[in-house]
Amino acid sequence: ALEQQREALHNNVQVIAHRGASGYAPEHTWYAYDKALAMGTDYLELDVHMSADGHLVAIHDTTLERTTDGQGPVKEHSLDELKALDAGSWFNRAHPEYADDAYAGAKLLTLDDVIDRYGQDVRYYIETKSPKDYPELQDALVNKLEAEGLVQSGSVVIQSFSQASLQEVHKLNPDIPLIQLLWYSPSEDGKTLEEWTGVTPSPADITDADFQTIAEYADGVGPNYLYEGGPVIDASFIEQAHANDLLVHVYTINDQDQMHQLLDWGVDGLFTNFPDRLKGVLAEV
Ligand code: G3P
Ligand code: CA
Repeated sequence: ALEQQREALHNNVQVIAHRGASGYAPEHTWYAYDKALAMGTDYLELDVHMSADGHLVAIHDTTLERTTDGQGPVKEHSLDELKALDAGSWFNRAHPEYADDAYAGAKLLTLDDVIDRYGQDVRYYIETKSPKDYPELQDALVNKLEAEGLVQSGSVVIQSFSQASLQEVHKLNPDIPLIQLLWYSPSEDGKTLEEWTGVTPSPADITDADFQTIAEYADGVGPNYLYEGGPVIDASFIEQAHANDLLVHVYTINDQDQMHQLLDWGVDGLFTNFPDRLKGVLAEV
């Protein structure tokens, strides 16, 4: 099964539902995940943080304000406190065109919740967030995936901006396919890409040596496509990654013209909030 997963990663363009079908429903809730799967998505993307009592929680931000009615860092709340929050009403306010009364009161989910529901029937594309805040995250994550048989069933990819996090996962279980995320910005909060990833200053300037360093532990790279509206990668970036035996999964592409462009350039997968749009494009090409 693991072999089949690797074959699929290399032979088919992967539809990665970014936080679920988060364009249509509140991210990281059952609504977003179920919709993504109904659209025929290949992978459910989950960002993972840890609660104060050590549970792996599916949420993007380090703090609760944007996507819940709670406040403060995720890591300062117990799972019971997190489960009491409303993780859906914000979406109805932010996206009235897709609002649904059912979303109000949607619950935050743990990785355990998600695996209990979908098991080995779906594939998970899990991001270790803020690993410096949670030194035990890698261990907890790999233990859980192994206990559920999800590595050997070819059901999981792990991604991170943190090279250290991916290298630790690789040591814990070298069978898990890994994607090194890259974020190019001239100065994001004054940080260079090197400080974000420990890899290189810019996808535009990435060298074969950088790619080879990544290839020692990862199966591919996951760069952003746009910075301030303009592309920061091109066909030659993808070609160079491929020449170094690395897959390229680009985030976060919601526009069908951009999907066409990246497919023309030979991309291996796309993160999207609208998996149906990507499925539509793939059906045309
Ligand atoms: O994981 C790919 C992409 O999701 C990275 O950015 O901030 O949406 O997690 P972010
Ligand atoms: Ca992510």
